[in-house]
Amino acid sequence: MGKGQDLYTRARTLIPGGTQLLSKRPELYLPGLWPAYYSRAKGADVWDLDGKRYTDVSSSGISSCVLGFADPELEQAVIGAVQAGSMTTLNCPEEVELAELLIELHPWAEMVRYARCGGEIMAVAARIARAATGREKIAFCGYHGWHDWYLAANLSSDTALDGHLLPGLQPAGVPRGLAGTMLPFRYNHIEDLRTLVAEFGHELAAIVMEPTRSEEPAAGFLEEVRALATQCGAVLVFDEVTVGWRLNCGGIHMVHGVHPDMAAFAKAMSNGYAMAALIGTRAVMDAAQSSFISSTYWTEKIGPVAALAAIRKYRRESVHVHQVATGEQVRAGWQKAAARAGLELKLGGVVPLSTFSIDHPQAAALTTLFTQEMLDRGYLAGFRFNSTFAHTPQIVERYLRDVDEVFPVLAEAMRAGNVADRLRGPVKHSDFRRLTGNDA
Ligand SMILES: Cc1ncc(COP(=O)(O)O)c(C=O)c1O
Repeated sequence: MGKGQDLYTRARTLIPGGTQLLSKRPELYLPGLWPAYYSRAKGADVWDLDGKRYTDVSSSGISSCVLGFADPELEQAVIGAVQAGSMTTLNCPEEVELAELLIELHPWAEMVRYARCGGEIMAVAARIARAATGREKIAFCGYHGWHDWYLAANLSSDTALDGHLLPGLQPAGVPRGLAGTMLPFRYNHIEDLRTLVAEFGHELAAIVMEPTRSEEPAAGFLEEVRALATQCGAVLVFDEVTVGWRLNCGGIHMVHGVHPDMAAFAKAMSNGYAMAALIGTRAVMDAAQSSFISSTYWTEKIGPVAALAAIRKYRRESVHVHQVATGEQVRAGWQKAAARAGLELKLGGVVPLSTFSIDHPQAAALTTLFTQEMLDRGYLAGFRFNSTFAHTPQIVERYLRDVDEVFPVLAEAMRAGNVADRLRGPVKHSDFRRLTGNDA
């Protein structure tokens, strides 16, 4: 066992759940064998605690590092912010500069508030929407963080959030009084939302969703969502925490030409430094003044400086064009390798955030086997590939050559019916669960 797994064994006795983010649990990748911790990272590469180097062709920092790890331009900007004093009694001027830049990129918006994390900024959005409308219910689709307003969805039914992140999210600790406030609808199922609006429209504070994520919006879908929100007086909130900055320089809703009342940005806006922003119309955003929304570290300097440097680089280098081209290169490579191996893949996701799945009763074991084989070849890899500016065509070609070697291993395991036998540890987890001492 490597140093990373040793440390993780200790972590599980000290940190409930082992990590601070569900998506960083080693059990979600390769139980017992995933390197778990890093010593340093640069570009597309990560070194584990044993000094072993991997190319990250998985989530690249859980979708936060659009430019790759430790981008030199951002490092310089952040070092400057640190040396200038990142926290004082006064405010940092960069928060005004960033507000102007965000509004320039999204001319429908007029005002901006900040936080430092995605879940946090979405909680701010929910609070402002409720304050602005004087209503409590929220219709939602997709994942929006861990806070009470959102997790309340699973108070009414254990399964309301299944299909929005991992199944089985437990709402223990969320006040039961919030039951019935969150109303789920399915992406691209406009009839779900029509039904909710018909029944609860006069009580709806907000409609909250990602403009797109695992599938493209059906023709007219986003437009009708917009029309329904306007019709019932609910605030339309687009969550751009992960999909923003991928197809264009800004929120993906600008590509689709549908303007919300508020849009939230976080991890993808600042390349690994904590920053989040909520932009919106004056009419809605001004309601923030009628509620108490305030936090000390929302005023520090590093976040806005990092976001400004990142967005300027996204714009100057047309980073979204590179992300799309790289995503397309990977998709084509997956398809070619799958066809050669006789595997049938289903592709999903916005092109720069592509995923593949194999329809098979042992799908989780197959993904685990893929991760195991790719780790042996020097990659952090799974069923998703988030393209970054650091993924050069050469890196992707090398990755695809190895995929071309590994897909036949999966095909052979499927034919022989021994997928699980080929694993050196347990099958990866596909749900949210309590970790016990027996977990690998
Ligand atoms: C769409 C969306 N909203 C909100 C969040 C929560 O962001 P954070 O993990 O920074 O709290 C995420 C994170 O994955 C996300 O993808």
